[in-house]
Amino acid sequence: MSQMVDLVIFGGTGDLSTRKLLPALFQLHRHKLADRLHRIIATGRGATDTAAFRQVAHDNLLRFLPANSWDEEVWSTFCDRLHYCRVDASQDQDYQGLADLLDEGEAPGRLYYLATLPSLYGKICHQLHNAGIVNDHSAVVLEKPLGHDLQSCRQINEQVAEVFNEESTFRIDHYLGKETVQNLIAVRFGNPLFSPQWRNTFVDNVQITVAEDIGVEGRGGYYAKTGALRDMVQNHVLQVLSIVAMEPPSSLRPADIRDEKMKVLRALQPMTSGNVRDNTVRGRYGAGAVAGEAVKGFLEEAGYQDADSTETFVALKATINNWRWAGVPFYLRTGKRLSRRYSEIVIEYKKLPFSLFANDPNELINKLVIRLQPEETISLHTLNKRPGLTRGLRLQPVELHLTDESQNKGDSYDAYERLLLDAINGDQTLFMRRDEVEIAWRWTDSIIDAWEENSTPIKQYNAGTMGPNAATALVAVDGRNWYE
Ligand code: BG6
Repeated sequence: MSQMVDLVIFGGTGDLSTRKLLPALFQLHRHKLADRLHRIIATGRGATDTAAFRQVAHDNLLRFLPANSWDEEVWSTFCDRLHYCRVDASQDQDYQGLADLLDEGEAPGRLYYLATLPSLYGKICHQLHNAGIVNDHSAVVLEKPLGHDLQSCRQINEQVAEVFNEESTFRIDHYLGKETVQNLIAVRFGNPLFSPQWRNTFVDNVQITVAEDIGVEGRGGYYAKTGALRDMVQNHVLQVLSIVAMEPPSSLRPADIRDEKMKVLRALQPMTSGNVRDNTVRGRYGAGAVAGEAVKGFLEEAGYQDADSTETFVALKATINNWRWAGVPFYLRTGKRLSRRYSEIVIEYKKLPFSLFANDPNELINKLVIRLQPEETISLHTLNKRPGLTRGLRLQPVELHLTDESQNKGDSYDAYERLLLDAINGDQTLFMRRDEVEIAWRWTDSIIDAWEENSTPIKQYNAGTMGPNAATALVAVDGRNWYE
């Protein structure tokens, strides 16, 4: 998409647009990065108008922009770009108003961002087509979740594909827009030091943790039907895993990277009713305290009937069946209302075959710790000599930092800024291809089916802890610990 683009957001007054998309667009505008972006047209069912929408956007930006980002002058030009168009996504006649508004503009390119109920995605695409506002310079961005299982995901993909080809379809997983996920590619493939060790000969296990301290934050209705496996593992966690585990791509072109990620997802061993008990833990938070504040349990908070079969925590032991990773467990965990918010990948290297320092309490396990948030850091955990004249050679832990925080400080950005910019510029590298999303569903469906067949219980954990004890046991039976 090398033309000027009008961005149309379906769900333009919704939560995602308010908290993430509009702040990200403001930042791109502020940094003069969105030079191809012409107008931003928010659509919604509400009977508001552009002037009122601008006022609300102004107030919300003040709330949701990062500190020190507000700039009155930038707002005055950003505001001119904002428009509102009333569209009830399910009403045929409403699309004419959108078509008229688009025709008034000068941008030949159109980027439709769908942040509504995924069950509407197919219908919206067809309506756009029927209204004559899809052309060769049009593309669509699809927010997650893409369906509820493999079948519904395929259905959405098929309906969208009837209007937009794969090259014009951008499936968002905002974890791919996080700086450290991209830095992981740089560190892995840019350093001859790491590449030869990135395999089962050297690596003992890999851990991926995506921990949140928040609860379901007013999204109880959605979350009660979704649960942690579908909400976080099917997309964010598996996307991160596929980048950690992929073979070196032959280039950085989107197709080459996506092909390698795809092979990892295909190599994931499906769960069955026979092995699901040993490899998975489901949890749900009860009342507890997070950061010193008392919080309610999920069931009291959400108050939805179907929520008693919903997990808010999941821990998994995943197996990748290929030569590189045979014998290396990938421990994955994610949950809400945990003790703190952080996301991290830990590569634990094998112990020495024979240690000269066997009696030292610090006996070495080298680790590469890749922190996605709240900080964006990569550090290598090593040991060296404890300095001093004490008798004997004693070890002490030393962290080598591979990220230069002072240098990076000015450059931090939200994942949505990166992804919106890439979508506007037509770069698909950090978006999910259709087959990737579907294969990820196939694996998560295998877990859900096995849970159902086995009536796998949901274990309770207190809010403010790191999940149920069974999650510790999942790793402990293999003689390992979660890295905290
Ligand atoms: C979303 C999930 O995709 O990611 C939310 O639907 C979750 O439940 C969020 O809170 C986490 O994103 P981040 O970037 O804050 O880790």
